[in-house]
Amino acid sequence: MRRTTGRRGRRLTAGFGALGLVAGACAAVAAAQVLAAPSAGALDNGLAKTPPMGFNDWNAFGCNVSEQLIKQTADFFVSSGMKDAGYKYVNIDDCWMTHDRDAQGRLVPDPVKFPDGIKGTADYVHSLGLKLGIYEDAGTATCAGYPGSLGHEQTDAQTFADWGVDYLKYDNCNNAGSTTKQQYIDRYTAMRDALAATGRPIVYSLCEWGVNEPWTWAGDVGNLWRTTGDISDNWNSLKSIINQNAPLDGAAHPGAWNDPDMLEVGNGGMTDTEYKTHFSLWAEMAAPLLVGTDLRRATPETMSILLNKDVIAVDQDSLGVQGRVVKTDGTHVVFAKPLANGDAAVALYNSGDTAATISSTAAQVGLPKSLGAYTLTDLWSKNVTESAGTISAHVPAHGTVLYRVHSAGGGWDQYPPSTSVAASLAPAYPGGPVVVRAGAGNTVTTTFTDSGRVPAENVSVDLSAPAGWAVQAMTSNGAGSVASGKSLTTTWTVTPPAATSPGSYSLTAGATYQWNDGTRLRSGSTSSATDVLVPNPPPSGTAYVSDLQWTSATNGWGPPERDRSNGETGADDGNPITIGGVTYAKGVGAHAPSEIDIYVGGNCTSFNSDVGVDDEKTAYGSVVFQVWADNTKVADSGLLTVDDPAASLTADLHGAQFLRLVVTDGGDGNNSDHADWAAAAVTCN
Ligand code: GLA
Repeated sequence: MRRTTGRRGRRLTAGFGALGLVAGACAAVAAAQVLAAPSAGALDNGLAKTPPMGFNDWNAFGCNVSEQLIKQTADFFVSSGMKDAGYKYVNIDDCWMTHDRDAQGRLVPDPVKFPDGIKGTADYVHSLGLKLGIYEDAGTATCAGYPGSLGHEQTDAQTFADWGVDYLKYDNCNNAGSTTKQQYIDRYTAMRDALAATGRPIVYSLCEWGVNEPWTWAGDVGNLWRTTGDISDNWNSLKSIINQNAPLDGAAHPGAWNDPDMLEVGNGGMTDTEYKTHFSLWAEMAAPLLVGTDLRRATPETMSILLNKDVIAVDQDSLGVQGRVVKTDGTHVVFAKPLANGDAAVALYNSGDTAATISSTAAQVGLPKSLGAYTLTDLWSKNVTESAGTISAHVPAHGTVLYRVHSAGGGWDQYPPSTSVAASLAPAYPGGPVVVRAGAGNTVTTTFTDSGRVPAENVSVDLSAPAGWAVQAMTSNGAGSVASGKSLTTTWTVTPPAATSPGSYSLTAGATYQWNDGTRLRSGSTSSATDVLVPNPPPSGTAYVSDLQWTSATNGWGPPERDRSNGETGADDGNPITIGGVTYAKGVGAHAPSEIDIYVGGNCTSFNSDVGVDDEKTAYGSVVFQVWADNTKVADSGLLTVDDPAASLTADLHGAQFLRLVVTDGGDGNNSDHADWAAAAVTCN
């Protein structure tokens, strides 16, 4: 849903950068906490001892909230088993009220949307054994322009208490120009004290978007605090929010949680793999689980994610520790979360665009040395394996493997050894896609590894490719025994037919083996898929980027457009590309955050383009254009806003396999970031 209402004060501070900076960022958080003076009125409302679970209508419905929706969602919580799984709060977001307060200065529910008022709605929700949440704003108006609570805190808190409200989300729009941390603390503390004065237990959720580092002060003020700008239903948004929230683990504890925003699971803009990453990492980071989809239309896949009780148990663990990043190379990340029973929840998160093996150890995730072995329970597949200490999995692109790891004294030997097998090929550049050539032999290596305590016996490894591709083992693909901690490596030649169409294909490595459970040999198997790219022929001569094939394209809103500006939703919905009054017939209309990758196969020498925010936007838009040759940045526009004329970018592409056109949001969220690559072209041999 595209917000159209005006908003102010959304300039986010730079915040923490990539996960690569985790160690330093954590240290900074810790230091800030140590230095903070103890607060006189520390929040002690006894609520949210585990992260709140429930529903909020905003992500799926925007302003279309109603009593009917809230009641139907509450009914669904009961009938679907969600209530039993722990979902409790049914929360109303913005747009529930009328534009004017009543004669006593009280907020008035919209009588058309809420014929029974908030009180009647709350009574119904309570009759089902559930709780009701509401939304207000620590400013003069809400983000959608309804009356704000600034200066009305006591009246509004008492009104909410009188209605039977159990949860308040308190937003930050139209905040009377406040900028300093103290101004933020004052506005949010005023409502804390007003809520406390009512005597009704009301969970207090701060929504200041992470602007003034709430993780350094909000533990005394609220039960949870947003750490980022608004989530949207796409992979770029999810990835960036994970990056921002992950380093803040030190601030979370029972009653006080980092809030990386509500769930998008089920809304259709991401794959099931990405939604499982979303849900897994929200649980791992002890985030609130507030479902943001239309449950009345939820698919079985959506429900199987939202009702995964093992993952929910990680989120709701009574120890109340946010999972911490214990290992990262910036793309492949290991989180560890200690659990109340001594287990660890370990998330192996692959933010990259290529499947990868991610490994850690029991020691690294903070588990004591085991006398026997560790058991790893995969909380999605439910497979249980035993490990001598390595915690590892082949994780698909954008995927997360979530294990509950238990240090087992005995009984571990009933489980098969933890094994993995994966195909690997050299990427086009470090971290880049894997390219295979049609009509030529490509070298592929498979590695089978036994991480269990018992050996894998009679191992046989196999590599399968799309129909018609020739696959030949060049070295042995079998072994009588692969001992604990050892691997079997096999080299293969894979030849796609010369006429293979450009595109993404999958290679699957599989292994079968036997293992001894102490009394008899049993069978085990493992497999994993690796995506490879058969590229288009590289461009030749001078060519417009909008006329070339793109190997991948991601965009903030809708697809990037060819020869028109970004229209935000479907394909071909933009306008003629126009920057600073100049209209361009050719070019690409992107919306930050965006990345378009083009295979140039070492055949191109230069890139040039005019760049800027499209004239169709008159406020807010501010972006940075970057040109990358493989993983080297070769041009950068600096910050360009709606007020700037087009800038001209040229870049050297000698030797590059891929041209990558990146647009960032300039650090202030992506509102109105319509970014044009005007007349973008490559010059090639
Ligand atoms: C802000 C909040 C969102 C939502 C909207 C409602 O953008 O961050 O979560 O509440 O306001 O207008």
